[in-house]
Amino acid sequence: MKTKYWKATEIDREGQQAISEAANLLKQQEVVAFPTETVYGLGADATSNQAVSNIFAAKGRPSDNPLIVHLASPEQIGQYVTTITPIAKKLIEAFMPGPLTIILTSNGKIAENVTAGLDTIGIRIPDHRVARALLAETNLPVAAPSANTSGKPSPTSAVHVYNDLNGKIAGIIDGGPTGVGLESTVVDCTMEVPVVLRPGGITQEQLEEVTGALVLDHSIKKEVQPKAPGMKYNHYEPEVPLYLVDGDVTFFQSQIDQLELEGKKVGVMVSEELVANLTTSHMKIIGTQADLTTVAVHLYDTLRSFNKTDVDIILAEVYPKAGVGEAIMNRLEKAASQLIKQ
Ligand code: TXA
Ligand code: MG
Repeated sequence: MKTKYWKATEIDREGQQAISEAANLLKQQEVVAFPTETVYGLGADATSNQAVSNIFAAKGRPSDNPLIVHLASPEQIGQYVTTITPIAKKLIEAFMPGPLTIILTSNGKIAENVTAGLDTIGIRIPDHRVARALLAETNLPVAAPSANTSGKPSPTSAVHVYNDLNGKIAGIIDGGPTGVGLESTVVDCTMEVPVVLRPGGITQEQLEEVTGALVLDHSIKKEVQPKAPGMKYNHYEPEVPLYLVDGDVTFFQSQIDQLELEGKKVGVMVSEELVANLTTSHMKIIGTQADLTTVAVHLYDTLRSFNKTDVDIILAEVYPKAGVGEAIMNRLEKAASQLIKQ
């Protein structure tokens, strides 16, 4: 399949043309990648089993991992769920559009393979001009997972999408780099107390300010039996093995030295605070400890950038699991094959 590639960083003439063409392809049951404020999504008509099956095929995604339904505006949510629970109402008001996905009970209007047979659906209103213009133009609910090959780091630029999916999908809208850099927070709103199924762009602290009590699902730890079906698979894995190093800078340096002594080429992915105190030849700065949103923005791109090098191992530091650090560590722990503790 020939994959079309459009530029749409602005909704100018070129952008509008891209959105119209992409919307037409979506209406014809084709699969199109588009930018959102979190990561790029791989969209298809969520009311069509056929269109949605093309997403699973292109990504190589297991069919028991449900997809998020993207809508242009919060007013449309009622069309696809049985009820909007009080907790959902609060979250919609506070965070939509934005990097939040709410789980509600489906009324059956969405194709069965979107929900992987569950009676619930995940709904998100992206806060991105191109995404919202595309959704408005199709006037369809659009099922969209992250637009990467299943198991790889999520795409935060159109080039990442191109590298994974060129030739497998109908088109890619290049809207420039995404903002948040990590996926949306997934919150189950079907019960009285909201349950966070995946930490993400909206932090636990932000959610609690609006909802009061909040439950963090234990299944977000890799070892534990998953509740959201997508949690049991390997995720975000770079092509080069990633080790997390939990210790001070002297310990970090000793790990580099040990691996280099064994003849390994070591890549290092750390904050600017650590870079200043480490010595090795393949170092990439991921952001600053003083503002972890910078780490979130660059995480997936930095992981992918090691594919083009000849390093044998990537070493990365760990971050405090508070604020956006919770989501960063959730992704790093899933991506890593080892944790080296001091
Ligand atoms: O930021 C995002 O959420 C991005 C952009 C493209 O919107 N999308 C994304 O989709 O990350 P995906 O498919 O990579 O992750 C969706 C997550 C999975 O963990 C899945 O299991 C969960 O949402 N999910 C979807 N529907 C669900 C449901 N009905 N019940 C429980 N979990 C659900
Ligand atoms: Mg994904």
